[in-house]
Amino acid sequence: MSEIASVGIRIAITGTGAYLPERVLTNDDLSTMVDTSDEWIQARTGMRERRIAREDEATSDMGAVAATRALESAGVDAAEVDLIIVATCTPDMIFPSTACHIQELIGAKNAFCFDLSAACSGFLYGIETARGMITSGVYKTVLVIGAEKMSSITDWEDRGTCILFGDGAGAAVLQAGDEGHGIMSTVMGSDGSLGDLLKLPAGGSRTPASAQTVEDRLHFTKMGGNQVFKHAVLCMSEAGQKALDLAGLEIADVDWVIPHQANMRIINAIAERAEVPLEKLCVNLERVGNLSGASVPVVLDEAVRDGRIKRGDIILFVVFGAGFTWGAMVLQW
Ligand code: UT7
Repeated sequence: MSEIASVGIRIAITGTGAYLPERVLTNDDLSTMVDTSDEWIQARTGMRERRIAREDEATSDMGAVAATRALESAGVDAAEVDLIIVATCTPDMIFPSTACHIQELIGAKNAFCFDLSAACSGFLYGIETARGMITSGVYKTVLVIGAEKMSSITDWEDRGTCILFGDGAGAAVLQAGDEGHGIMSTVMGSDGSLGDLLKLPAGGSRTPASAQTVEDRLHFTKMGGNQVFKHAVLCMSEAGQKALDLAGLEIADVDWVIPHQANMRIINAIAERAEVPLEKLCVNLERVGNLSGASVPVVLDEAVRDGRIKRGDIILFVVFGAGFTWGAMVLQW
């Protein structure tokens, strides 16, 4: 297990954007597909519905719309982007990277581009990577995108997972902050010993795709839900507290907590441990489900656009995902 904490010069999010597909899949729809019910799903997860991408809509298509909206809100031209990082566990294809696809779609011809694999923690990993790149002084404008077509890796016969996930994309523009605005502290962790609890087993070099892997349904998300739940609460709580300590802040100083949107019971457990009032939580999982790497940027964009998040606000991000990976970040908006 590793956990890295850092404080440095402040790098800010100067624009955000998001995209959700049109098609809505409700709990009642799911109850016609697997043995479940609206009551069970709402009680155990807090989710009511989620969005599902069109068949011809890939992760890069959704990411490109979110990216364009983020650039518009930052007032940045696509040609000014130095680097595109795409956090995704549902890339368009194994290679080329989804980041390169998005570069082409948005016309960011001066950027270099790569994908980052940290599942549901990917967006925060991307932000921390961008922070390091901008701090180096070499790169000025970085686009970090969390984009997922989770429906493409969901086993629609597995009621333990198919009720959870949705499709969508969010993006953020990162640049040097002014007057102290920006990232104050980060804590990033990984524990590869627990990888088996949440994975997509086949389609990589360990178990290449074959007729047998398709028959065995190995191209879908497999999760030990209960175990993942416990680790998620623990890791996000501890990382959040460490990030606050590093920033020299108390939980009472925080205006907004933006957690990964995996399950309302996980979010409530974290809030209870940290004594965060529920009105300080930014939550959208009841409408969109778990968007994996896209969860945090989508809920962030919603809170920025509807005016909840104002300049100067202190935001605490906490995330957790497959790997295991996790992280926390304190940022002054
Ligand atoms: O984003 C990355 C991180 N992901 C997460 O953090 C997800 C973490 N895990 C979870 O959110 C929860 O574990 C789940 C929502 C996946 C499951 O909730 P749970 O409270 O942990 O339920 P469980 O797996 O312990 O199952 C309880 C019961 C079982 O029945 P029995 O064995 O007690 O008879 C399950 O078979 O609920 C049953 N069950 C369902 N029943 C109706 C499981 N899924 C469903 C379902 N509808 N969809």
